[in-house]
Amino acid sequence: MISLPLLLFVLLFSALLLCPSSSDDDGDAAGDELALLSFKSSLLYQGGQSLASWNTSGHGQHCTWVGVVCGRRRRRHPHRVVKLLLRSSNLSGIISPSLGNLSFLRELDLGDNYFSGEIPPELCRLSRLQLLELSDNSIQGSIPAAIGACTKLTSLDLSHNQLRGMIPREIGASLKHLSNLYLHKNGLSGEIPSALGNLTSLQEFDLSFNRLSGAIPSSLGQLSSLLNMNLGQNNLSGMIPNSIWNLSSLRAFCVSENKLGGMIPTNAFKTLHLLEVIYMGTNRFHGKIPASVANASHLTRLQIDGNLFSGIITSGFGRLRNLTELYLWRNLFQTREQEDWGFISDLTNCSKLQTLNLGENNLGGVLPNSFSNLSTSLSFLALHLNKITGSIPQDIGNLIGLQHLYLCNNNFRGSLPSSLGRLKNLGILLAYENNLSGSIPLAIGNLTELNILLLGTNKFSGWIPYTLSNLTNLLSLGLSTNNLSGPIPSELFNIQTLSIMINVSKNNLEGSIPQEIGHLKNLVEFHAESNRLSGKIPNTLGDCQLLRHLYLQNNLLSGSIPSALGQLKGLETLDLSSNNLSGQIPTSLADITMLHSLNLSFNSFVGEVPTM
Ligand SMILES: *[C@@H]1O[C@H](CO)[C@@H](O)[C@H](O)[C@H]1NC(C)=O
Ligand SMILES: *[C@@H]1O[C@H](CO)[C@@H](O)[C@H](O)[C@H]1NC(C)=O
Ligand SMILES: *[C@@H]1O[C@H](CO)[C@@H](O)[C@H](O)[C@H]1NC(C)=O
Ligand SMILES: *[C@@H]1O[C@H](CO)[C@@H](O)[C@H](O)[C@H]1NC(C)=O
Ligand SMILES: *[C@@H]1O[C@H](CO)[C@@H](O)[C@H](O)[C@H]1NC(C)=O
Ligand SMILES: *[C@@H]1O[C@H](CO)[C@@H](O)[C@H](O)[C@H]1NC(C)=O
Ligand SMILES: *[C@@H]1O[C@H](CO)[C@@H](O)[C@H](O)[C@H]1NC(C)=O
Ligand SMILES: *[C@@H]1O[C@H](CO)[C@@H](O)[C@H](O)[C@H]1NC(C)=O
Ligand SMILES: *[C@@H]1O[C@H](CO)[C@@H](O)[C@H](O)[C@H]1NC(C)=O
Ligand SMILES: *[C@@H]1O[C@H](CO)[C@@H](O)[C@H](O)[C@H]1NC(C)=O
Ligand SMILES: *[C@@H]1O[C@H](CO)[C@@H](O)[C@H](O)[C@H]1NC(C)=O
Ligand SMILES: *[C@@H]1O[C@H](CO)[C@@H](O)[C@H](O)[C@H]1NC(C)=O
Repeated sequence: MISLPLLLFVLLFSALLLCPSSSDDDGDAAGDELALLSFKSSLLYQGGQSLASWNTSGHGQHCTWVGVVCGRRRRRHPHRVVKLLLRSSNLSGIISPSLGNLSFLRELDLGDNYFSGEIPPELCRLSRLQLLELSDNSIQGSIPAAIGACTKLTSLDLSHNQLRGMIPREIGASLKHLSNLYLHKNGLSGEIPSALGNLTSLQEFDLSFNRLSGAIPSSLGQLSSLLNMNLGQNNLSGMIPNSIWNLSSLRAFCVSENKLGGMIPTNAFKTLHLLEVIYMGTNRFHGKIPASVANASHLTRLQIDGNLFSGIITSGFGRLRNLTELYLWRNLFQTREQEDWGFISDLTNCSKLQTLNLGENNLGGVLPNSFSNLSTSLSFLALHLNKITGSIPQDIGNLIGLQHLYLCNNNFRGSLPSSLGRLKNLGILLAYENNLSGSIPLAIGNLTELNILLLGTNKFSGWIPYTLSNLTNLLSLGLSTNNLSGPIPSELFNIQTLSIMINVSKNNLEGSIPQEIGHLKNLVEFHAESNRLSGKIPNTLGDCQLLRHLYLQNNLLSGSIPSALGQLKGLETLDLSSNNLSGQIPTSLADITMLHSLNLSFNSFVGEVPTM
């Protein structure tokens, strides 16, 4: 039995040991002022305008300076600095070691400035420090191991700097109260210290965008208060330790862009039922999507693209009422039987769905009509690079929120549904490399927000619809390699925005190249080769001042080459071969210094070929 006086003595003695008295005694208010002035003098231009108020002195005047907060007046320690808050203050220079003398400091915020140099180890003398915030600077060197002495730290933010070296294990071993640890966007390397698993108060944990390697320590599964874990954009390998699937408070889990592999256990998300975002993209995970994903009923984003996931896509998404983004592209998912597409009718329950990316998988068979029952908030739908056959659902026009529709590189048949004309917000329509046929619907002229329309390499026939002239925001038009006939509609060249490319090559187009092409002052590429175009090359082509590539070969063009082509100072490619052109080759072509590919063969020119 210990006597009361002895117990008191023991408590007092240990309190003295815990609070090293040295820093309390040899620092005082005047010392704080000196330390601040020394900090100021180590800054470029003495901190400039931001620290202009740091000009008075004595009698605790420093407590009135901008960014300086002193403790409440107390007899023993008046005028001691407890906070130094100089975020976004346009400060450059080094962080002076003198700050280590502010022994009563609890919060140091120098974030979003231009500090360079290293973290002074003297800061680690600040045993009362709870918040250390140095993010968004250009701080170099490594994280001092002595940081472990700041045992009261609850928030450590060193993100967005140029720190190198390993994460000191002392952070895990000593900073028991840490609830936020932000070390992202640095150049940290080596392994994640398993000691970090001892930070049981940790809620926010971000190590993303570093060069960390090795495995994820299974000790991280002890971080039972964790809300956000971000280990993305590193070089981590191995499997996700099973203990991680025990982190029941987790809201966000990100390990994208690493070299992680293995399968995700079927039950993985049963315990992690509070997850709102899962980012596991660009790794080497394989196996199926775990059925338990349906248990994560708060899920808003699931990103598992760029892995080796296979099999049939899980049903059960229908329970995820808040799902907005589903990125499954670039995997090995399959659909063979019609019921394998069942997940789509499930997804029709997700009324907030905005993004569905299923591109670059092994999806086959025919799209179910339930596609047209997906949410009208869907703005991004990608099915490109699969093996899908059959026709595009007739009612696809129901998805009136669509801005991007990628159907290219499949085996779609039949015609483009004219309901597409209802997609008033569509900006990009990619349907090239399919087996689509019939005529291009007139209703496409309703898509006035369209920027990019690529329908090449299909079996479209009929005329190029004159309604295209209503696409007044079009930047790029691709209709190549189809069976289109009739003339190139001259109205097309009233679309002032057409700039990236017009490609109508490899069709059966007839008639002449309209004079109006000269209206397209910003056009860079014009492909009209391999058609049956006749008549003269319009000299207005000389007005297309930004033209770099002009392909008109394999047509029936006649007359001579207009010398106006010599005005196209940026022209790099000119192919007029295999036409019925004649006359002299204009000497002006020799003025085009950029021209490095010129083909005039199989025509009937006379006279000299100008020297280029
Ligand atoms: C900081 O304190 C040390 C003693 O602990 C003293 O030698 C030094 O001069 C002080 N520096 C400043 C800038 O106050
Ligand atoms: C100190 O700076 C403040 C604010 O910039 C200014 O108003 C004041 O006149 C200055 N005082 C002295 C003594 O220079
Ligand atoms: C930031 O500081 C630099 C000098 O370091 C100065 O030239 C510049 O005007 C300052 N910018 C602002 C917004 O105060
Ligand atoms: C974690 O803490 C326990 C007890 O506090 C200790 O025994 C263990 O060594 C610590 N682990 C690491 C990796 O620091
Ligand atoms: C990534 O980690 C592997 C070991 O898993 C290592 O061989 C490689 O050098 C690391 N790459 C980089 C860029 O750090
Ligand atoms: C998960 O937590 C349970 C209970 O807390 C424990 O029994 C089990 O060992 C943990 N699993 C892992 C892999 O850490
Ligand atoms: C998890 O989901 C399955 C199937 O979706 C369901 O049967 C089960 O009750 C769910 N479990 C929990 C704990 O929510
Ligand atoms: C869905 O989101 C709404 C609004 O953000 C929120 O109030 C609701 O709790 C969420 N529901 C689930 C199941 O996460
Ligand atoms: C769709 O949501 C309702 C609840 O609103 C639910 O009863 C139903 O099971 C869900 N359907 C699917 C396929 O998940
Ligand atoms: C689409 O939804 C409507 C109304 O909810 C329903 O009648 C129809 O059967 C659904 N169609 C498909 C193909 O799921
Ligand atoms: C689309 O355009 C066609 C013909 O250009 C027109 O008849 C039709 O009403 C339009 N449809 C919608 C939904 O705007
Ligand atoms: C183009 O749009 C205008 C109205 O915006 C409409 O009056 C006209 O009929 C449309 N023309 C074509 C060819 O679709």
